[in-house]
Amino acid sequence: MKILNVVGARPNFMKVAPLMAAYETCPTIQPVLVHTGQHYDERMSDLFFRQLGIPQPDLNLGVGSASHAVQTADIMKAFEPVVLDQHPDAVLVVGDVNSTIACGLVAVKLGVRLVHVEAGLRSFDRAMPEEINRLLTDAISDLLFCTEQSGVDNLLREGIPDERIFLVGNVMIDTLLRNKAKADASNILDELNLTTGEYAVLTLHRPSNVDDPSVLGRLLNALEVIQKDLPIIFPIHPRTRKNLSRLGLDQRVKAMSNLRLIDPMGYLDFLKLTSSAKLVLTDSGGIQEETTILRVPCLTLRENTERPITAEVGSNRVVGTDPAKILGAYREVVSGRWRRPQVPPLWDGAAGQRIVKILCETLA
Ligand code: UD1
Repeated sequence: MKILNVVGARPNFMKVAPLMAAYETCPTIQPVLVHTGQHYDERMSDLFFRQLGIPQPDLNLGVGSASHAVQTADIMKAFEPVVLDQHPDAVLVVGDVNSTIACGLVAVKLGVRLVHVEAGLRSFDRAMPEEINRLLTDAISDLLFCTEQSGVDNLLREGIPDERIFLVGNVMIDTLLRNKAKADASNILDELNLTTGEYAVLTLHRPSNVDDPSVLGRLLNALEVIQKDLPIIFPIHPRTRKNLSRLGLDQRVKAMSNLRLIDPMGYLDFLKLTSSAKLVLTDSGGIQEETTILRVPCLTLRENTERPITAEVGSNRVVGTDPAKILGAYREVVSGRWRRPQVPPLWDGAAGQRIVKILCETLA
């Protein structure tokens, strides 16, 4: 049984790593790894393959960056001949990036079964490109693997038959637990001259935050205050770096001496950096989940989350982009008033094995 596994953008790599490892327990599955090339910089792609021990992709479609329509169409055009040539029994996609929906659509149009890992998450915000990718991918998938109960509930409400939905836990957390000891040995704190618990980490890349000068300006107002008493380490996404200069905000950022912009980091250094931080400020989805397991307070700089369990039982609070709200939550963290998080059900490091067992039993 041949399964084509698709990755494209940075957060996909941590999700596919445990699956590639778990396939070894099911000799009847022949996994093929396809990289669409949506992300291509060494620090956005290759570094993750090396650090996470992911086998080199069998195929790289080399699609690269473009507008949504062009990127999605280019991925589809490049992926269709691969499916025709490989004759897979199933295509497996992860997450919610353009590569996910593009390859999913190609698969089902060719009559190939589609498997979606990290299904059912909903922010209920259709202005978010990933929400469209999630809704559409789930609507056409044959097997849907969920990380949290809200995902199962959303899918059932959307009319997906119960027997196609599986609550299996979180493959991103499998990767975190598998690599935590290795990450602990990273000397990134020394390299950046940081002390455990005495700095914050910031990541920002959502178009709603970094493409709009008024929103980005509001976020900078809050960061200006925080960096006065706590260094903020900001591994900056290429999209955000380009926008700071395009929107004329780079001088304002430069003037904040304690807001330290650094290049995107590898997985292990970033895990060490976040696990030792006082708090994390982010608009990422995956980092809300990782900080929950690391028990590090997380302020999510968005109006909503598609991962509600991280705010219900985890260390996450969705604070939006209003500086007053961000600073209010920040002060709670520094004064020690923050919930001690619990681990969501099944986030135990074995999600990849559960998925492969189900694939082995149901696709055969
Ligand atoms: C994509 C995903 C987003 C995910 C994010 C993680 C979609 C719609 N968005 O957003 O869900 O959270 O990845 O990073 O799929 N660029 C580089 N080098 C690279 C890749 C990108 O410089 O290796 C620059 C390019 O200027 C590009 C821009 O970043 O135009 C955006 O890249 P793109 O893949 O379109 O979206 P992301 O913002 O990375």
